[in-house]
Amino acid sequence: MNQRERRRIYSLQNKDPINILKSRIDVSMDNLQKRKTLNSELPQLIQNKMQMVNYTASMQLQQKTKYEQLSLKILKEPYRALNIKQRMITNHFTLQQKIQDTIAYDCIKHILSNTDNTIIKGQVILPVQNEQQYTIPVSRQGSRVVKYDHYGLVFGGHSHRENIEIHAISLLNGQWKRKQEFCQSQIEQLKLRQILNPNLRLGCYFSLNIDENKTIYAFGGEKNTNSRRTTNMVTKISLEDDRLEWQQYQTSIGCRRNHSGIYSHNHLIIIGGLDDSELNTKFYNDFQMINLINMNCTQFYPKFYSKQVIQNDHPFQLGIAYHSATLVGNPYLRMNYDFTSNTKKEEQVDQLFTKEGIYIFGGKDSEDNLYNELYQLIIDTYPSVLQIVETLGQRPSGRRSHSMNYDEKISALLLFGGTNEMECFGDLHLLFLKNYTWQKVQLQGYLEYPFRYEHCSVYNEDKLFIFGGLSQNGFLMYNPIQIQIKFKTILNIHFKHMQINKVCCFGAGYVGGPTMAVMASKCPKQTFVVYDINELQINKWNNKQYPVYEKNLDEYINQTLDNNLIFTCDIDIALKDCDIAFLAVNTPSKKYGLGAESSLDISYIDSCLQEIKKYPLTKKLILVEKSTVPIKTCDYINAVLKDKNICVLSNPEFLAEGTAIQDLLNPDRVIIGGTIEYAQQLASLYQQWVPKEKIIFTNIYSAELSKIVANSFLAQRVSSINSISIICDKIGADVNEISQCVGSDSRIGNKFLKTSVGFGGSCLKKDLLCLIYLCESLQLDEVAQYWRQVYLLNEFQKQRFYNLIITSMFNSLRNKIIVILGVTFKANTNDTRESASLMIIQKLQEEQAILRIYDPQGKIDKLEQYQSLDGIFQGASAIVILTEWEEFTKIDYAQAYNQMAKPSYCFDGRNLLQGDIMKSLGFLYYGLGRI
Ligand SMILES: NC(=O)c1ccc[n+]([C@@H]2O[C@H](COP(=O)([O-])OP(=O)(O)OC[C@H]3O[C@@H](n4cnc5c(N)ncnc54)[C@H](O)[C@@H]3O)[C@@H](O)[C@H]2O)c1
Repeated sequence: MNQRERRRIYSLQNKDPINILKSRIDVSMDNLQKRKTLNSELPQLIQNKMQMVNYTASMQLQQKTKYEQLSLKILKEPYRALNIKQRMITNHFTLQQKIQDTIAYDCIKHILSNTDNTIIKGQVILPVQNEQQYTIPVSRQGSRVVKYDHYGLVFGGHSHRENIEIHAISLLNGQWKRKQEFCQSQIEQLKLRQILNPNLRLGCYFSLNIDENKTIYAFGGEKNTNSRRTTNMVTKISLEDDRLEWQQYQTSIGCRRNHSGIYSHNHLIIIGGLDDSELNTKFYNDFQMINLINMNCTQFYPKFYSKQVIQNDHPFQLGIAYHSATLVGNPYLRMNYDFTSNTKKEEQVDQLFTKEGIYIFGGKDSEDNLYNELYQLIIDTYPSVLQIVETLGQRPSGRRSHSMNYDEKISALLLFGGTNEMECFGDLHLLFLKNYTWQKVQLQGYLEYPFRYEHCSVYNEDKLFIFGGLSQNGFLMYNPIQIQIKFKTILNIHFKHMQINKVCCFGAGYVGGPTMAVMASKCPKQTFVVYDINELQINKWNNKQYPVYEKNLDEYINQTLDNNLIFTCDIDIALKDCDIAFLAVNTPSKKYGLGAESSLDISYIDSCLQEIKKYPLTKKLILVEKSTVPIKTCDYINAVLKDKNICVLSNPEFLAEGTAIQDLLNPDRVIIGGTIEYAQQLASLYQQWVPKEKIIFTNIYSAELSKIVANSFLAQRVSSINSISIICDKIGADVNEISQCVGSDSRIGNKFLKTSVGFGGSCLKKDLLCLIYLCESLQLDEVAQYWRQVYLLNEFQKQRFYNLIITSMFNSLRNKIIVILGVTFKANTNDTRESASLMIIQKLQEEQAILRIYDPQGKIDKLEQYQSLDGIFQGASAIVILTEWEEFTKIDYAQAYNQMAKPSYCFDGRNLLQGDIMKSLGFLYYGLGRI
């Protein structure tokens, strides 16, 4: 009987499950016979195989010895062996692949492929049954399981028992719990009454996912085994405290079963499946996205990357039903990404191939073709991309109805079981995503019937739990299995998480100094070395004459300096045995050549790279962009250091001067972009004090861009409110009142809504200009103009303010004394970079006014400043407030007024003082956007 015939009978008989079973048994009789014959020939076959193994071993001995010697060398003397290793890789692998440059990796590959293939072994164990009379409930074909804390929750499926129930298995010791016991467990108190409601059915062959809030989503499947009614429903199950809510939503993507469903950021991604509720079975060959917030569905069309480009009208040709799909990578990666809009440039797609994405394996199509290609679907690009991954090693044979899990620790897919219609598999394959190599796991231990398909499985730590399914003969499988996978050797040699012992930071400025001080205090087990080429700067830190003024900074320096925090100008002290190096050097606006005054100058980053290039690194260095850098600087770093053993991450700093310590202690978010494996190493530092949810993993370009965008948004808010202050001045409204009214809208918020003489500082302007430059270089003129207006308004606000001073004083400032209060770009810092006061001071000097300048912390080069306010107001004609230092609110302005020349002006560039009071004292008071 051919497969088509079988399927026809199957669908005709589908109203009678007993018949189905019978037909399955008939079909598999042939196979059973075959197996019996095979079994009788087995001893001879084994002997033959042994002879072959011995023969191959002797043939390979010479090569093996060579490899072994090399492996030892690599382990003992990595650097001398590196060159030989690279040559051997090129000779050995014909396939072009992205091998992660980890020295030990090749040793492992050698060991695995040439000597002892039992290093990865699976120990098969039967789960513990806690009561003899309790039948393990997972014998139901097509049931599904989700990982839920230390439990796997098993749902649905069908057997002679039609009830929909929840059963749980402990993923720690394989112990089963009945629903009642689970109900009483300390882990979850679930009221399972509702689950027994006959209307609430999940049926079988659906897909099942769980989100970060432990809400479970099922999609599709067969609702009723007797009528074979396929559904298009999303079933949402909230397992909250003591309630269990269950809701169903209809979708528009077509009824289907045996598809794959992947959860990612409030979306279900449904791949393929089939609908055989009518006589004509329909195979879906599509990708659908269900937005779980509004249940809107979108079909998305990935671009196919392959040697043979596939036609658009039939673009995928996957074995699209009965296949498996697994999401690899951090689920936060695609957070907030609008999957359907053209938000990313197509050209970027090529660079975005990482090991992350959705992996699809096996399955069959409407022609009964079986597949064993590995597909990778990347959805965070536009258009999304699908490619066939070229793999090494012996890949599993074509199959369907297998299960696939992902082990994050070793970055491997685990493929178990399945069928090719003729026989059924009980094998376990690992696919290492690091180099896309297949490795078959040797199963040991007692297992009567490991062969099964249409089962479900869940993976926890190094244990694979397999439930239900069908056997070779089409029998329901009652014995669940647990496969303990022993990765010991691998974990020890290669996949062991890198131990971070030493961190260094290039740049001891506003970012480098405070950041490392806080990190050192929060990570006492690690050593932090801050390196700077400026000796004066380093001496200041070492002598506690901080070059940076920040509240509470001294507390953190006192705690850590010479303990686990070192400031040095010695590159050897910084880079020797270093695990992570931050680049926190200055990246000002470029002052020359192409992109002058707009693009960021990365020459200081470059000088760090040259230092690293020269330095003989002894181990892998994670190089972290902490400075704000132009987009794709990571590519530049990789190009410059291509011969070095490094990995680049982007981890932009969001601290604000004035509140740096507070921001570092309690950041709104920590963004880490780059290869997830290394990003997690960096995250392990932050996790010592930053809650996990605040750490966002992104792709590296997103991380670079996010900083520029965040600062541009802040600048835009300042320019927006400043533009309103201009209107207020014209119509007699008060901008402070407007800020309060507008800012109390929770969608808008009240931060960065204070009008001022304009934003300054080392970041906002240069980052905004960098965004403008980026838009211009991408030829996005309209976008560039939009952002340029934010910049121009800021310049206009400064100009407007000094014009106000000059015109109010009748254009006659010559020899008049003007008191300037504040030179820093904002209060609570000593930073004067790009401060609005620079331009205003210069303009007033051009008017030949006599300036008396005071700032509690800031100092402008080559400018004489008052050390205190003593005598500063004597004979002055005007006070100009340029920084919102609290100290300036406490001045006795009545006394000042008495000392000043008349008329006495006050120009308040920060709306710091109460205009009414100042006026009542006799001042000619001018604020911004105020009457
Ligand atoms: N200042 C802020 O509030 C802030 C906030 C977030 C991000 N950032 C970004 O962080 C980066 C650093 O800013 P900053 O304000 O700390 O700058 P900074 O000018 O205060 O400090 C930079 C330091 O790097 C040193 N340096 C330059 N080249 C070096 C080299 N080759 N090796 C070692 N040291 C070198 C300089 O001597 C200087 O001390 C910039 O990209 C900035 O945009 C700054």
